[in-house]
Amino acid sequence: MFSVTSTRKLTGRRSSVFYQDVTGGLQASQKYLQSKYFYDEAGDKLFQQIMAMPEYYLTRCEMEIMQHQSPAMAALFQGEPFDLVELGPGDATKSWHLLRELLKTRVPFTYYPIDISSNVIEWLEEKLPLSLPGLQLQGLNGEYMDRVEYVEHISQRRKIVLFMGANIGNMTMQQAILFCRQLHDRMRPGDLLLIGFDLKKDPKTILDAYNDKQGITRAFNLNLLKRINRELNADFDISQFEHYPVYDPGTGACRSYLISRIAQQVHIGDETVISFRENEAIYMEISQKYSLEETYYLARQSGFSSMHEFYDSKNMFADILWQRMP
Ligand code: TRP
Repeated sequence: MFSVTSTRKLTGRRSSVFYQDVTGGLQASQKYLQSKYFYDEAGDKLFQQIMAMPEYYLTRCEMEIMQHQSPAMAALFQGEPFDLVELGPGDATKSWHLLRELLKTRVPFTYYPIDISSNVIEWLEEKLPLSLPGLQLQGLNGEYMDRVEYVEHISQRRKIVLFMGANIGNMTMQQAILFCRQLHDRMRPGDLLLIGFDLKKDPKTILDAYNDKQGITRAFNLNLLKRINRELNADFDISQFEHYPVYDPGTGACRSYLISRIAQQVHIGDETVISFRENEAIYMEISQKYSLEETYYLARQSGFSSMHEFYDSKNMFADILWQRMP
């Protein structure tokens, strides 16, 4: 049981995981915020706009792969009935093409989209059966690993896991190895994993995708400060922070920072004061780009072998099919 004082500590804004993550990140010696918090309602809308911008090639490249190569993917998925588990499906416009091909092949499967947002799951459960008649679908709301374990628990079928959209790039290589190992441990030998990688390419093309002329990516980054103001009762002066993306063609890391233009103090609720030096940076997010060799390395390190690579027509993006090793 909690004592009275500790119960009080656990109520209100200070108790929220969001508050803890934000203040923890801003009190670190290299200040940082977690990119998963970008996606509030306004953030979702801004990200939709990012995906539609001419500079942001990622979504269009992967869409092209799915539109043209879903029949070839579906052919590789032939065999026993299976569970198709998708991590972070979004509106499933990309996986839709694969789902349609899989329905044609008549091998029984159930589609399990997993998302942290219950809105996403409700929307998919309502809409997908309309355009994909006959689809067996069970949406799962929650954390990826936890829900994958749940599927493993309720079904004996072989598994095919989709992790598209270059979501793997939101992790460093070390984090990606741990993540893929966790997936490995929840899959069985022979199970398949399709991962979307944004590939190393002309550095200018990459940087432009995170530094658009219209300032949408800038607004997307600053929106997280607005969210903190609103939800945690903070007083960030948005005009005193500048968006600064960098791409390192050596490591393949594309990182976004917000730079404090001046020395300033920011209050978060009544309890926390954060001091910024002039030009101090908040590290906002990584988008890791891969060479083909680096994808092989990641596969090997996490217990998978690479079976097949699907590229767009410009070889900018790859969806790679891995098989879980014994
Ligand atoms: N992380 C995703 C990507 O690398 C989405 C994204 C695009 C993003 N631009 C961003 C995330 C800027 C944070 C900041 O493509």
